[in-house]
Amino acid sequence: MSGGAGYIGSHVTVELIQAGYDVVVADNLSNCDLTCFEGVKKITGKSDLPFVKMDFCDHAATEGLFSSFKIDAVIHFAGFKAVGESVSDPLKYYSNNLGSFVNLLQVARAHGGCNVLFSSSATVYGEPEKSPATESTPRQSATSPYGNTKQICEDILRDSVKAYPEIKGIALRYFNPIGAHPSALIGELPRGVPNNLVPFITQTAVGKRECLSIFGNDYPTPDGTCLRDYIDIVDLAKAHVCAVRRMLDGQMEQPYEIYNIGTGRPVSVLELVTSFEKVNNLKLNYKFAARRPGDVTAIWADPALACEKLHWKAERSVEETLASAWAWEKHLAEQ
Ligand code: WQD
Repeated sequence: MSGGAGYIGSHVTVELIQAGYDVVVADNLSNCDLTCFEGVKKITGKSDLPFVKMDFCDHAATEGLFSSFKIDAVIHFAGFKAVGESVSDPLKYYSNNLGSFVNLLQVARAHGGCNVLFSSSATVYGEPEKSPATESTPRQSATSPYGNTKQICEDILRDSVKAYPEIKGIALRYFNPIGAHPSALIGELPRGVPNNLVPFITQTAVGKRECLSIFGNDYPTPDGTCLRDYIDIVDLAKAHVCAVRRMLDGQMEQPYEIYNIGTGRPVSVLELVTSFEKVNNLKLNYKFAARRPGDVTAIWADPALACEKLHWKAERSVEETLASAWAWEKHLAEQ
């Protein structure tokens, strides 16, 4: 698993191990430390979980990984993901996010090919003509270099699968991943000031941030704030197990498949904030501020295809998810 020590990678590792798969975690630790990796070992009891510190832009290191382990499927999480930073430093994003994926596919091919699961994003839809978005909803031109790298990597996988029969691929388009593992031993660990909503909420609640700014309450939505599809991180992780199972059990109907991974339920920023206050019995300090450039008004998933083909659907309620996010933040505060 490339980038497997991060927020999503660590939750996916837990679910894969608990589903009986052998996992190797590889990460260059450019955007995380080993806190979550150590948490994964505690949760699963797998004290010998293999970890390889490496960069997937490094051909020799990637070659070494494929020579050291028999790899039947690779899940590619490695990539930078800060929308704002991608606008101010696009070359950092194009060289890393595209270079690592091309290199990974080239090495995989040289080792006889493998099943590739790509971590994509609903951001490829931009501001969709309408929601819920299905997998056939047209992709809009990306609103950031980060989003563009997701679109381009999808196309790299699509075209590689067509040209090289030894490569099979699935792209999972995540909507908004939030929350933490129920054990509170792994969760989101943003470096510096969080870009995303839920870590900013929990850091404000725990006193690390003074006040949450809600970016815009003048959108054409019921309460004026943006609508998103917030998918619980454990539900998201389980979708990866279903996708890996589909690939390894030979159930794929096309050599390249795409799935939306969301709940199908739109939730506004203000609804999320008030749910967080209610479920955790606290008052959050927040204010309404100007819109954030690049934000889409509303997007949520139609997850029917994942339900049908992956036999997956989101199960945790947003209340459970918000309680898990708070438990994780409090765990961090005790460290
Ligand atoms: C959600 C809503 C903000 C912070 C991005 C990427 C996506 C994925 C997830 C990486 C928006 C509002 C946020 C804050 C706020 N990428 N907000 N105050 O922008 O939907 O998606 O992150 O994992 O690919 O595009 O997520 O959490 O940043 O914002 O009001 O302090 O919360 O305006 O409406 P987003 P987000």
